[in-house]
Amino acid sequence: MNKATAVANPNIAFIKYWGKADEALNLPANPSLSMNLAGLTTVTTVEFRPGQPSDAVTIDGQLVAGEARERVVTHLDRVREMAGVEQRAWVASRNDFPAGTGLASSSSAFAALSLAASRAAGLTLDEAALSRLARLASGSACRSVPGGFALWEGGADGDSYARQVAPPSHWALVDVMAVVSREHKGVGSQAGHALAPTSLFHAARLAAVPELLATVRAAIGARDLAALGQATEIDALAMHGVMMTSRSPLLYWLPATLVVMQAVRSGRQGGLAAYFTLDAGPNVHCICAAEDAGRLVERLRNLPGVLDVLVSGPGAGVRLVDYHLF
Ligand code: DP6
Repeated sequence: MNKATAVANPNIAFIKYWGKADEALNLPANPSLSMNLAGLTTVTTVEFRPGQPSDAVTIDGQLVAGEARERVVTHLDRVREMAGVEQRAWVASRNDFPAGTGLASSSSAFAALSLAASRAAGLTLDEAALSRLARLASGSACRSVPGGFALWEGGADGDSYARQVAPPSHWALVDVMAVVSREHKGVGSQAGHALAPTSLFHAARLAAVPELLATVRAAIGARDLAALGQATEIDALAMHGVMMTSRSPLLYWLPATLVVMQAVRSGRQGGLAAYFTLDAGPNVHCICAAEDAGRLVERLRNLPGVLDVLVSGPGAGVRLVDYHLF
């Protein structure tokens, strides 16, 4: 069999990965911790084909070229080298959520590609090896390999991968995502990471991460939403502070981004326990307990500038499925 299909969920980080210790290897400047999102999926089929002249990649039904294709080809080359395979591949990938809007599409994309391509090439990698492989394509993708809540520590190439800190069943947390833009972002996170050290605040944020990370880990263990949420908001704002003060500055927020953040904070004063975080985009992830998700959706849905509201609980790790996209 030289064909395989994998499904992955993107993840949302409570402690962010922003800045790299090694750009070529995607070694992070700081450890990060995230939750997979069951409600959003990427499905990817890879087939290595004898006689095919070059790799062909489709995303959501469109043949892709340029940088997006190159990133996939580079990853296929890694897998070919590991497996001793020469053949070029046909790759099809589908997302059920908008790509490039801070909903972390590269995390699920490269987790799914890593599993589908390695299986199609005849490799059976354990979770750590698969997570490490996914990391080489996109740092955050290594956290979509284990299920539930995942910690990605720094370290050297061989031991920088994500491990599960709690399974999805551990805590019925919900991410209510307020979509305020479906546009592809101007500066992607790859270019953004390189700017992090140009911010005066980068070193300060890195110094604060160990304590925030310890708080988030303990909060997950104790299912303590207030402790998790406070640390998550602080780190998201710190990361955006770094972004906004980089040279050149990155400003991902739209007016509606701020409207949602303010609504989460005022809701909290009114007794609705929810906390926000954002990735490298304008959409806002609002974290709450499952029983409060309905109320939070109602609150966010009618805010000016909110185009859509998506809801997700904790997701599983990347997995093989027995159907194919082609
Ligand atoms: C803001 O994983 O997309 O979402 O390793 O260059 O592919 P590359 O970057 P990427 O960075 C994600 C940044 C973030 C924060 C996070 O998910 O931790």
